[in-house]
Amino acid sequence: MKSITFNHQNSSAIGIGTWHIGEGNNKENTAEMEAIKYGLDHGINVIDTAEMYGEGLSEKLVGQVIKNYPRGSFQLISKFYPFHATPKLIEESLKASLKRLQTDHLDLYLLHWRGNTPLEQTVFGLEKMVSAGLIKNWGVSNFDIDDLKELSSIKDGNNCQVNEDLYNIGSREIEYSILPWQKEHHMSFIGYSPFGSDDSEFLKIQPIINQMAQQKHITVHQLLLAWVLRNHDLLSIPKSSSIEHMKSNLAAVDVTFTKDELEILDQTYPAPKHEVQLNTI
Ligand SMILES: NC(=O)c1ccc[n+]([C@@H]2O[C@H](COP(=O)([O-])OP(=O)(O)OC[C@H]3O[C@@H](n4cnc5c(N)ncnc54)[C@H](OP(=O)(O)O)[C@@H]3O)[C@@H](O)[C@H]2O)c1
Repeated sequence: MKSITFNHQNSSAIGIGTWHIGEGNNKENTAEMEAIKYGLDHGINVIDTAEMYGEGLSEKLVGQVIKNYPRGSFQLISKFYPFHATPKLIEESLKASLKRLQTDHLDLYLLHWRGNTPLEQTVFGLEKMVSAGLIKNWGVSNFDIDDLKELSSIKDGNNCQVNEDLYNIGSREIEYSILPWQKEHHMSFIGYSPFGSDDSEFLKIQPIINQMAQQKHITVHQLLLAWVLRNHDLLSIPKSSSIEHMKSNLAAVDVTFTKDELEILDQTYPAPKHEVQLNTI
């Protein structure tokens, strides 16, 4: 499988997204656990979760799966609410997440989105958690370019290792300045919702996508995921609830595009030519 450098480590190009995982009945939870296991057994070595996802249900389900894997064999990311972004609440949230995840540390702990707590306080709290050995590194999510610049200007702000933003063929805002800025600052990028999430409102599939997928003998989802991975050193984190979808996503990592195909897709889904506000889901 294609590998990338992510959070200073060799990593699979896709991670496992887990929003809405663990919220269903026993049968659904079992299928989701099987899908995550399949991913881990076939080369994926990053999992993304958050205290927000099912108010802990996602972390609980992930914990049940990962307890059977050596802790060093994958990177585990979780996120805290912006209203838990003070040093005291970060520590409380983190300890609760670790308990649900049945582990003693996270590889990355992210501020889920910006709230009212001054960044200085949040960074101070996160650095404390690094010193305590409860997290290896920390990062942010849904940060636009101005947020990243502000973060890098404060004490220890440059210790931020990742930013996780929306990225799919219909939401290319990050290409204009966020990706280049992160590259320059050696900050890993995580692109979420490669398929536009569960709701087609977030990503309109134009006929060219169906036509090209058919010509390439791949599915629309495979085309969408392969497009995200096409030429960037970034991590995409599709969410799949079944082994069938996980298999399909694993296979998409090896799909390539010709220059002409990429140009055709660019005509329908153009890259931004100036600064545009970041979209979020
Ligand atoms: N930081 C943030 O603010 C933020 C925001 C949104 C998401 N995220 C993270 O990013 C992850 C991915 O984003 P997302 O969950 O919003 O949506 P997504 O991965 O773009 O799309 C998930 C949807 O695609 C379906 N799917 C997955 N693989 C498929 C395949 N091969 N063929 C057909 N359908 C397929 C899934 O169905 P099944 O479930 O039935 O497989 C699900 O309905 C999240 O789970 C979460 O970890 C982070």
